[in-house]
Amino acid sequence: MDYEATGSAALAAIAAAPDLAAIEALRVALLGKKGSISALLKTLGAMDAEQRHSQGPRIHALREAVTEALGARKAALDAAALAARLARESVDLTLPAPERAGGSVHPVSQVMDELAEIFADLGFSVATGPEIEDDWHNFTALNMPESHPARAMHDTFYFPDRDGAKNDEGGREMLLRTHTSPVQIRTMLAVSAKEPGGAPLRVIAPGRVYRSDSDATHTPMFHQIEGLVIDRGIHLGHLKWTLKTFLAAFFEREDIVLRLRPSYFPFTEPSVEVDTGYSWQDGRRVVGGSGDAPGHGWMELLGSGMVHRKVIAAGGLDPDQWQGFAFGVGVDRLAMLKYGMSDLRAFFDGDVRWLAHYGFAALDVPTLSGGVGTPL
Ligand code: PHE
Repeated sequence: MDYEATGSAALAAIAAAPDLAAIEALRVALLGKKGSISALLKTLGAMDAEQRHSQGPRIHALREAVTEALGARKAALDAAALAARLARESVDLTLPAPERAGGSVHPVSQVMDELAEIFADLGFSVATGPEIEDDWHNFTALNMPESHPARAMHDTFYFPDRDGAKNDEGGREMLLRTHTSPVQIRTMLAVSAKEPGGAPLRVIAPGRVYRSDSDATHTPMFHQIEGLVIDRGIHLGHLKWTLKTFLAAFFEREDIVLRLRPSYFPFTEPSVEVDTGYSWQDGRRVVGGSGDAPGHGWMELLGSGMVHRKVIAAGGLDPDQWQGFAFGVGVDRLAMLKYGMSDLRAFFDGDVRWLAHYGFAALDVPTLSGGVGTPL
């Protein structure tokens, strides 16, 4: 049999195959179960030894040459297909990019960032504590022992245990912190553990707090920023200067007038409620000026005071050596005042239309132009 002729006919057909389907058809026709070369291989069985010795290598060589040619042609066709696709699918970089729905920064996050920045300029660092707190840090250490009436005023969310009774972890009831003041204790304890009597310290503690309360001006979750300064010889004047300086930077005006009223918090002595003067502009309260001026008023802004001796002691510091002031301010309220929002509940509804209106571009430069003067 003329294997050479068979071979060159097969190789010519393979070289001429126009596409992958034609290659596959040729593979089946030549090497498949019923293919012509497979049939040739089968004839070897019927040959005598001498014939097989002379024919065998020629048939095998033929099969090898065909197999190789099929592979080579397939690779060439693949490469051509890829090259064609690359030429076809070029990207036009001059086309305008599709518009992307941009996220925005929530006003509460924006205000917290602004406050962190203002207080950083005054030498404060940021401290944090857990939102799931125990009653010792939230109440007892802040001079509110069990059965203290102020505990009832906080409308606390307690964690019930399996029997529905108040939970008790290592003798301490667990709750959602009702204010950021427990971070005062945690910060003092952390500092005094590292270095006995290791004050001074200046921190702010921003975060979520929880109270069982819900109406137009109260949500069960809201945000506070705690401020704490512990040093030697700290007095109310430092507190007032710090508050005035931070409010001037935050509201971006020089004419902040504060009114300090005696108040009561178990963890400060004396305690001071701080009001700020405001006026009306376009039906909106605008912070600034004296509240006693005609058409002006005073609004309550925050609670503060000199840190109680018992609280300094609970923080592991010696109250004869260290004094300090603390304040707690509602972040949501500050945001409403500065950016003119009227309904607190809308803050936490998660409505993207509200966010698109009141949110801040993530990459905006902060609104604060410069620093706020010399540190304390
Ligand atoms: N923790 C108080 C509150 O939530 C505010 C406060 C903080 C008062 C620090 C005095 C000192 O109402």
